Amino acid sequence: MENSSKPSIAIIGLGNIGQVVANNLVKSNRPVIVADRNVSKAKELAEKWGPLAQPMDIGAAMNAADIIVLAVWFSAIKELLYQYEGILQGKIIVDPSNPIAPNDKGGFDKIIGENESAGQLNAALLPKGAKLAKALGTLGAASLANAAFQKPEPAVLFYATDDEGINGAIEQLIRDNGFEPVRAGGLDQSIRIEVFGDLHEFGALGATVTASEAKLKV
Ligand SMILES: NC(=O)c1ccc[n+]([C@@H]2O[C@H](COP(=O)([O-])OP(=O)(O)OC[C@H]3O[C@@H](n4cnc5c(N)ncnc54)[C@H](OP(=O)(O)O)[C@@H]3O)[C@@H](O)[C@H]2O)c1
Repeated sequence: MENSSKPSIAIIGLGNIGQVVANNLVKSNRPVIVADRNVSKAKELAEKWGPLAQPMDIGAAMNAADIIVLAVWFSAIKELLYQYEGILQGKIIVDPSNPIAPNDKGGFDKIIGENESAGQLNAALLPKGAKLAKALGTLGAASLANAAFQKPEPAVLFYATDDEGINGAIEQLIRDNGFEPVRAGGLDQSIRIEVFGDLHEFGALGATVTASEAKLKV
């Protein structure tokens, strides 16, 4: 597919995940709009990534793009969905979040109910007409960087969405990150691809998998 015919992408939040996703997309020659609440951070990083990366403030980035990757912590996603409700209407929203927070033992605890998922909770907060995909969060940031563009067989990133009409856009986004997309199902499967789930690197999966290994597990 020509880059010009692909939907435009904005990454909101340039921490561990946002930076790796932007870097992977630029490696695939895919343009990316980058935004963070710290505008000078977005400008500095965009300079490093080169002309394919365009820094903007958050509102302008959301306005300009078709696909909005909310690469922020679970609690911040809720704030962004409320704050930018008008701009986000009708957009494709990608949620990589894991509903966890650091505990006092140096680990992480789930901060929502045992049987709840971030994907399903965020789906209930969607602006009008927006479509949600849970994606880009099934590996830790290190693997998302180090296993990208793996040869001979690419590593898998699982995704989930209730809106099959966006499968193609999400699969292209994942391929342009250097991974093979595997759909886990609808958002009711989010819990499986979030941290501690059976299809997450920091869950029962324990490592990256290839497509043939992944299909046995889905
Ligand atoms: N790290 C991982 O290995 C990993 C793996 C899978 C999924 N995830 C998920 O991916 C998401 C991002 O994780 P991360 O590790 O990349 O976090 P992070 O390193 O803390 O980065 C978050 C970034 O978002 C910015 N930010 C925070 N609140 C914001 C807001 N309201 N508006 C705009 N920008 C905001 C932060 O800015 P400041 O620097 O100013 O705070 C920071 O640049 C989380 O939901 C996490 O659960 C992470």
